[in-house]
Amino acid sequence: MTTAQPATRPANPRFSSGPCAKIPTYALEKLADAPLGRSHRAAVGKAKLKAAIEETRELLNIPADYRIGIVPASDTGAVEMAMWSMLGARHVEMLAWESFGSGWVTDVVKQLKLDATVKTADYGQIVDFNTVDFNNDVVFTWNGTTSGCRLPNGDAIPADREGITICDATSAAFAQDLPWDKLDVTTFSWQKVMGGEAAHGMIVLSPRAVERLESYTPAWPLPKIFRMTKGGKLIEGIFVGETINTPSMLAVEDYLVALDWARSIGGLKALFARADANAKAIWDFCAQKDWIANLAEDDATRSNTSVCLKFTDDRIKDGATFAKAVAKRLEKEGVALDIGAYRDAPAGLRIWCGATVETADIEALLPWLEWAFEAEIEAQA
Ligand SMILES: Cc1ncc(COP(=O)(O)O)c(C=O)c1O
Repeated sequence: MTTAQPATRPANPRFSSGPCAKIPTYALEKLADAPLGRSHRAAVGKAKLKAAIEETRELLNIPADYRIGIVPASDTGAVEMAMWSMLGARHVEMLAWESFGSGWVTDVVKQLKLDATVKTADYGQIVDFNTVDFNNDVVFTWNGTTSGCRLPNGDAIPADREGITICDATSAAFAQDLPWDKLDVTTFSWQKVMGGEAAHGMIVLSPRAVERLESYTPAWPLPKIFRMTKGGKLIEGIFVGETINTPSMLAVEDYLVALDWARSIGGLKALFARADANAKAIWDFCAQKDWIANLAEDDATRSNTSVCLKFTDDRIKDGATFAKAVAKRLEKEGVALDIGAYRDAPAGLRIWCGATVETADIEALLPWLEWAFEAEIEAQA
């Protein structure tokens, strides 16, 4: 017997984990104020870039003495410019529990060739932060986008640490509470929780990170797009909108529009609440079903943005083929786009729950998930 299709479809089937769904009120016309065809160094361009920085500070409650810069190459560019500029001054601990964190380990061990201490956890778990010595420099990813496992809080990071913390927070920023006093370098891109465009990254530096930049010169060469100092002094212009190279003013405008939307719905708390409600709808669904479960083993580490799910039904013959077929079936029906697990992650699904996704769309998707699961069980028999 074939299960009937649910009656309602999500109004927006875009559940990709990056680039993520645009803001619910999105329309291209909203970008009309972008100063296209003008220099980004003209007053109008500089004002837009400075607004993007200062409005980010305000929305995320970033302390006044932290520097915020817009940098090239999205989140990857921001993480790598931090690691290349600051690491090597003291021993490094690299923490990873999924693919992106592992990528930063490769950077540090194989490219920078540092003799780092590497601590990893399997997909579904996170590294125990109580085992970390924060007198070393420590690099980690707050929310593992490809495993759906996040650091619940920064309590294990001591305030009086001697090392600096470098945190890839790209799928956490704007959805999860980031303790700025525990983070010396924080990076993210506009394309995740804010539904912005990729290509530009943001880097947030604590005063201690700036001190490191001004007191330490790495042994290796730094390309221009990684250089944040000149003559041993911070290039302050970067942190007021004088970007290292040319940004897309269309992408900047898009981000400003997203920030405006965030303010209009109530700011950071409202963004958090939207992601929480989206993720909770999926968690509650999983709790009622015996064939699907969160990849995160500990509820405290469950992501409220990149929710990763695994199928747990004994009847499934080939997990990877099954999960791909479910995702394909949902895509074909136009009810969920891009929800297959990341290529290096365990077989399953990943449903983005960041603030730009509507809870009603998640709720409309869930019966379809059950429909696709049943259909695939039948199809493989
Ligand atoms: C945790 C994490 N780090 C880094 C990246 C790479 O981001 P970007 O492509 O914006 O550089 C991603 C993208 O999904 C991510 O999830």
